[in-house]
Amino acid sequence: MRASFVPLVLAAWLCTPANACPSSQVNLETRDSLAYSPPVYPSPWMNAKAPGWEEAYSKAKDFVSQLTLLEKVNITTGVGWMAERCVGNVGGVPRLGLRGLCMQDGPLGIRFSDYTSAFPTGVTAGASWSRDLWLERGYKMGSEQRDKGVDVVLGPAIGALGRNAMGGRNWEGFSVDPYLMGAAGADTIRGLQKAGVVATAKHFIANEQEHFRQAPEAVGYGFNISESLSTNIDDKTLHEVYNWPFVDAVHAGVGAIMCSYQQINNSYGCQNSKLMNGVLKGELGFQGFVMADWQAQHTGAGSAVAGLDMTMPGDTVFNSGASYWGSNLTLAVLNGTVPEYRLDDMAMRIMAAYFKVGRTVEDQPDINFSSWTRDTYGYVHAAVEENWEQLNYQVDVRGDHATHIRESGAKGTVLLKNKDGALPLKEPKFLAVIGEDAGPNSQGPNGCPDRGCADGTLAMGWGSGTSEFSYLITPDNALQRQALRDDTRYESILNNYAWERTEALVSQPGAIPIVFVNAGSGEGYINVDGNRGDRKNMTLWKNGDELIKNVSSINPNTIVVMHTVGPVLVNDWYDSDNITAILWAGVPGQESGNSITDILYGRESPGRSPFTWGPSEESYGTEVLYKPNNGGGAPQQDFSEGAFIDYRHFDKVAPNKGDKGAPIYEFGFGLSWTTFEYSNLVVKPRHQKPYKPTEGKTKKAPSWGNYSPNLEEYVFPGNVRRIDQFIYPYLNTASSGKEASNDTSYGQTAEEFLPPGALDGKPQPLHPASGPNGGNSQLWDVMYEVEATITNTGKTISDEVPQLYVSLGGEGEPVRVLRGFDRLERIQPGKSVTFRADITRRDLSNWDVSKQNWVITKEPKTVWVGSSSRNLPLKAELQ
Ligand code: NOJ
Repeated sequence: MRASFVPLVLAAWLCTPANACPSSQVNLETRDSLAYSPPVYPSPWMNAKAPGWEEAYSKAKDFVSQLTLLEKVNITTGVGWMAERCVGNVGGVPRLGLRGLCMQDGPLGIRFSDYTSAFPTGVTAGASWSRDLWLERGYKMGSEQRDKGVDVVLGPAIGALGRNAMGGRNWEGFSVDPYLMGAAGADTIRGLQKAGVVATAKHFIANEQEHFRQAPEAVGYGFNISESLSTNIDDKTLHEVYNWPFVDAVHAGVGAIMCSYQQINNSYGCQNSKLMNGVLKGELGFQGFVMADWQAQHTGAGSAVAGLDMTMPGDTVFNSGASYWGSNLTLAVLNGTVPEYRLDDMAMRIMAAYFKVGRTVEDQPDINFSSWTRDTYGYVHAAVEENWEQLNYQVDVRGDHATHIRESGAKGTVLLKNKDGALPLKEPKFLAVIGEDAGPNSQGPNGCPDRGCADGTLAMGWGSGTSEFSYLITPDNALQRQALRDDTRYESILNNYAWERTEALVSQPGAIPIVFVNAGSGEGYINVDGNRGDRKNMTLWKNGDELIKNVSSINPNTIVVMHTVGPVLVNDWYDSDNITAILWAGVPGQESGNSITDILYGRESPGRSPFTWGPSEESYGTEVLYKPNNGGGAPQQDFSEGAFIDYRHFDKVAPNKGDKGAPIYEFGFGLSWTTFEYSNLVVKPRHQKPYKPTEGKTKKAPSWGNYSPNLEEYVFPGNVRRIDQFIYPYLNTASSGKEASNDTSYGQTAEEFLPPGALDGKPQPLHPASGPNGGNSQLWDVMYEVEATITNTGKTISDEVPQLYVSLGGEGEPVRVLRGFDRLERIQPGKSVTFRADITRRDLSNWDVSKQNWVITKEPKTVWVGSSSRNLPLKAELQ
């Protein structure tokens, strides 16, 4: 327990692109040392005056100042796995009318319930590049959660970012680009919280693959490792790439952040003081609470002083009945191991987030469902089968959300190829729909728990970031309905291996085949056909590539639709003349068939790719670590590529079309229904005042302690019925020794036990880059306003997504990075519209490792505007 939060060895924290970290291929036996995460203490306390949080903190103070120590501990500690109705539940304060908060997944809708909607996944929503749709999606998802009684939504996922193209959970987030991810995450948060639920930005941070994210899980698939993966990342890359979306989340006022499973520089995410204390609460001024991922906590006092505010699901290991917090936290505060102010701060942060989204204690809704059964009656405490009650009220919370889901699924579909206007379809004479991915799962849309299979059409990935379908419109279903309206002859073969029948069908005169194929991935606790969360390769599933090649070899009008969680390899067939159109339909949620039909028939405009389509697995330059590389210790995954992931990498190694390893479809690419011309780039300088680092000190740690030292008062009360396995804040006995807590470290003083500074409650110097809502507020100063004219030069109404890229200049920097975009809708033929974007100080800054601050370097800076990361007709130098 002691060693796990005190960093042991020194090295890679300061490695930079110039002074690269060792690669994951290096023989670790020969490494001098492992990457290191420096200690940062004490844990920054709340700033009750942070703009946007004042009212929430004043309400929190009124509430929390009435709480006893036991009640404070109760709201920080989960009651245990499956111990209450929600995926996560903390204890309540019955005396004051607060029931335990309910935490529920997730990023695309409600997990484990009924009469709820399955929204498009993050990556499909991301591909729409539509701020309006993100906000609307967040609001609608939030309303559903609210109406089921959920207090805290476990989403959005803004990490994994997508360092590894085959990373299992990339689809839960919006894009591999930090700027796009941040923008989509922030709007989702605004929407969710506007609906009155606390949003949780997750997973903090660098949780980029499923393999080895948890040592016990890895043991389950045959790798005996003692500790979880360490993702080793340098300070510059951390700030400029992986932390970027979290800054946006904090800036948007997110109430909760979930720390991640794996280690970062050999310190676990949920006890990493550099990241939680230093970056999140120090630099970013995060005023909400940090929640542990499920079983991601590994220490008690150590995680408390490193900045963790809520443990989930509360037990150390599911259903163990033991907790790092609960009674242990009570005792730790009483004996001074954890400072009183830290517990007060946890409670204040949790309640402030709760009040910030407009919730009240008086009107807290009842939870009207259970995650653990669909029966009307069941056990409240499912894990131990106690308290039989009505759990499910089958409340239909879907409202009119299907309309949004359909639109968002369509607008997040990317048109990658469209030869000679093959699309949109216009009352075709004869459609032949081919492939299992067009049809249903024979076990029903929820046939596989947590969607852990690949049968029928793929509308979401698998894992905790899923929901139960109330229905799933398959492409076959929707296209057939359309065909009936148009008097189109329609036949579908929903089997990838029925070649004879398929050949007989698609070779008939006039047949337009639409081949549906897919490739899935998900969370590491489910293995689908050898894909342990992360994909094992980048090819299409179930013979998909062969199916496309076979159909297109005999039919010159073949259309391909791919439902995939990310990029797949299309090299073998994309440039075939017989393939007239290619669509990436992402993972679109319950309206899948309607969404794709709206695109195929041109009723909606398509989106743009939120990642690059490379020609091979290797072309991405980064990979999942599939085998441990550090003996039985923590596998070491060095992010030695720095910022060079996805297009930043491709632009560096293969800048031109035709270069070896150049993208097939670049980041930001996607066709529309027309052609657009870009002209009149105008760049107006605005705010040019110099940047002032933040100075001064915090106030001293506020505390509402006054705890009685009498241990008798904390002992399990005789009048409470003890539920087995349930995690309580009470002590077992009043003897203040080992017995009371089972804490083996008892006997050490707090100073001996904790890192230097961990107990300090005196005023602390402010970090030079810090500010209350994501960092120094001058980072959001607008330095330039950019405008460009976009003209529809074709014959059809269509949406366009102008993109603004900036080159920050200097050695070791990416060629360019995304710094602005807009989705301009329904531009009429012949009409021009103005694209506008602001470039902020933050957009032009690099992280200076030695200054520990953002700086605008003296390097020349260029701005580009165009329709993708590689099609940038407008360019200007910034003065
Ligand atoms: C683990 C996942 O990593 C996290 O995203 C999820 O919210 C929790 N499980 C709860 O299901």
